[in-house]
Amino acid sequence: MDSLRSGWVGTGPKVQRFEGMIRDYVGAGECRCVSSCTAALILALRVLGIGQGDEVLVPAMTFVASANAVEHAGATPVLVDAVPGTDLIDLDAAEAAITSRTRAIIPVHLAGRPVEMDRLNALRDRHGLLVVEDAAHAIGAEWRGRRVGAFGNVAAFSFYVTKNISTIEGGALVTEDVEVAARVERLALHGLSVGAWQRFSDVGFRHYEVVEPGYKYNMTDVQAAIGLHQLPRLDGWIDRRAELWDRYDELLAGLPIRTPSPPEPGTRHARHLYQVLVEADAPLTRDQLLDGLTARRIGTGVHYRGVHLHPFYRDTYGLVGRPARSNAGASRSRTKASKSSCESDRLMIRRPASVGPAIRSRPPAGGLFSRSSAASIAASCSAPTPGATDITTTDMVVLPEFGKSGAAV
Ligand SMILES: Cc1ncc(COP(=O)(O)O)c(C=O)c1O
Repeated sequence: MDSLRSGWVGTGPKVQRFEGMIRDYVGAGECRCVSSCTAALILALRVLGIGQGDEVLVPAMTFVASANAVEHAGATPVLVDAVPGTDLIDLDAAEAAITSRTRAIIPVHLAGRPVEMDRLNALRDRHGLLVVEDAAHAIGAEWRGRRVGAFGNVAAFSFYVTKNISTIEGGALVTEDVEVAARVERLALHGLSVGAWQRFSDVGFRHYEVVEPGYKYNMTDVQAAIGLHQLPRLDGWIDRRAELWDRYDELLAGLPIRTPSPPEPGTRHARHLYQVLVEADAPLTRDQLLDGLTARRIGTGVHYRGVHLHPFYRDTYGLVGRPARSNAGASRSRTKASKSSCESDRLMIRRPASVGPAIRSRPPAGGLFSRSSAASIAASCSAPTPGATDITTTDMVVLPEFGKSGAAV
């Protein structure tokens, strides 16, 4: 309300305050807020000089924004398999996929589980790679006492409605590099030399110049105002999510499903999603389970369909049930691809007051790509999501206390 009453609702002082708050919370040198995590990823790649002819390693098991950003940069996303159990990018497979054209890697802290940062940064240093961490799910996650985003790489956070904290739409990029941050800020607002807040100050109008053609990816003060009130509560919400995680573990034990592996010692999982795999010999398929949940008025969604299964990626790179290293060196021209034999879809079950389990296909021993059947399925659940507005209101059939938590948010 303060922002609305102030008369300044666009990009201005609240965004600056929110950036400072995120920077201090994460322990990074610089932070710039933008309109989404996708925007942050696109800007990061642009500023780091990734472009045509470059390859970027991306996990196949992620939301497509991670790979789309690479496409927007004009580079080639090279999809890398996941480690069964954590479902995080397989760093050995990533290393095996490196070619002379590989410039960067986009590790995803999937579901809020931090990637092994010492191994990741060692890989970075061994091969001279740039790292853009997709931390869309992971604000508040820690690895060996440091927060995700504070490991010397560029990292991108999401504040979309379903995330642990939300500005309805929004994202942030953190970096140690002052120049990178300054350029991201400029590119997020058309490439103007001065933003509106600086142009229309009380001391008079300042002229701007276009230094380079940018985008319209700025965050508004109204969005930042929401974030300023959410971030201080994040740690408490993550703790509550951890309690709900334990409760899910308890209540789902004994079912023909695989619940998520516990967080690795020395880490803090941000508990964005609670993922459950339905066993291959379970008495129902994933979609039957979804239908059953829908019939009980529990809304569902897929989190995530493997990137290689989406028609654009499948057809552009000729991906068909790919092994760990997939499309590196593949022609970008479209090739005819038969229907993939593997399924890596995930379902998000939307629960009342911002709570949602999700379901996904079960990775086999050899990884997500080597599945031979779509019959084995997985479910995953997300903990409560403050600020979420698109969650179906339904009965709390299984875990009613999730509603209470959500209501408290
Ligand atoms: C792994 C991952 N990366 C990137 C994004 C993009 O975030 P945004 O919606 O803020 O652009 C999402 C969104 O859900 C995501 O799950």
